This record gives sequence, C-alpha cells and structure tokens, in this order.
Amino acid sequence: MQYLTIASAILGSALLASAAPTPADLNARACSVAYPQSIGFPINYSISQDAGAANKRDDAITFDNIPAGSYGCQLEVNFPAGYPITSSGNSQVYFWSGTGASKEQVGTVNFASSPVAATKFVINSFTCAPTMSYTMSIGSETDAGSVAFADTKDAGITMTYNC
Ligand SMILES: *[C@@H]1O[C@H](CO)[C@@H](O)[C@H](O)[C@H]1NC(C)=O
Repeated sequence: MQYLTIASAILGSALLASAAPTPADLNARACSVAYPQSIGFPINYSISQDAGAANKRDDAITFDNIPAGSYGCQLEVNFPAGYPITSSGNSQVYFWSGTGASKEQVGTVNFASSPVAATKFVINSFTCAPTMSYTMSIGSETDAGSVAFADTKDAGITMTYNC
C-alpha cells in the first residue's frame, strides 16, 4: 500500500513536470540575433568588380559578439518589402570564410528585395564561435558586377542563434 502511494506520487509529479513549460523552455524558443561589427549603422556595403574579375572591391563582415556556448548559428539576409538595393551586371555574391589555404566558399546570395513582400535568404549554418568572419566578393570569374545597400538593424545581414 505504501509502495503504491509513493509510485503514484512520483507519476503525478512527472506528469506535471512534462505538462508545464519551464521558463528555460520558453526562452529557448526565441532566437537571438547578432549584427555585424561596425563603427556605426548603416553599414554601407559595396561589392564590385570589373570584367575578368579585375579591380575587385570586396567587403569583410565579422560577428564578434556571439556568446560562448551558443548553438545553431545561421547566416541570414533579410530585407523589408521595397528595400533599396543598387546592382548592375552579374551581382551574385560569394561568401568566403578563412584566408589563404584555408579559404573556403561557404555560400552565395543575390542581394535583392521584393516590391511586395519581405525577403529572407539563408546563406549557411555554422557551428557558433565567439568571432565569425567572412568575405563577400562578386562570384563571377568573367563578368563585371556590383551590388550595394545600406545594412541596418532592420535590413541586411545577421547571424541568428539559439533558436
Ligand atoms: C553610411 O552612409 C551614410 C550616408 O552617407 C552615413 O551616414 C553613415 O555614417 C555611413 N556608415 C558608416 C558605417 O560609415
């Protein structure tokens, strides 16, 4: 009889525990967002090259404030409807990580907004690190191209994590 009472008491508390979300569960569902390191906003990104990949103008982007122990880092681009972006020629941008022999292409994007809807591009997902750096460069080996936009906290490139 005593065993039965203890068993139902344990069962009862286990059910309660699984039914009621704890504050930690609720926090885990909201993503955190990191913005690129900058002396100020907007960041005026301007990426271009002439034909034959001459006169390349690349932009660096660094996230230097990802808390230790963060998980699920996702590099994203978000633009509100109608966000102004200037482009010409072949404006596909490649994202690179690392330098020299460890240089690796990690994603591509055509920076573009829609006149009628918000747009979102996922460039790639990464293991989080306190500092994450990339280089943005026109991808074509032959074509001239350029793209420029003002990156703010409401438009442009972010790293989301802990989703
Ligand atoms: C970007 O350009 C705007 C407009 O010219 C300027 O106010 C802003 O300071 C520039 N951003 C940076 C980080 O220099």
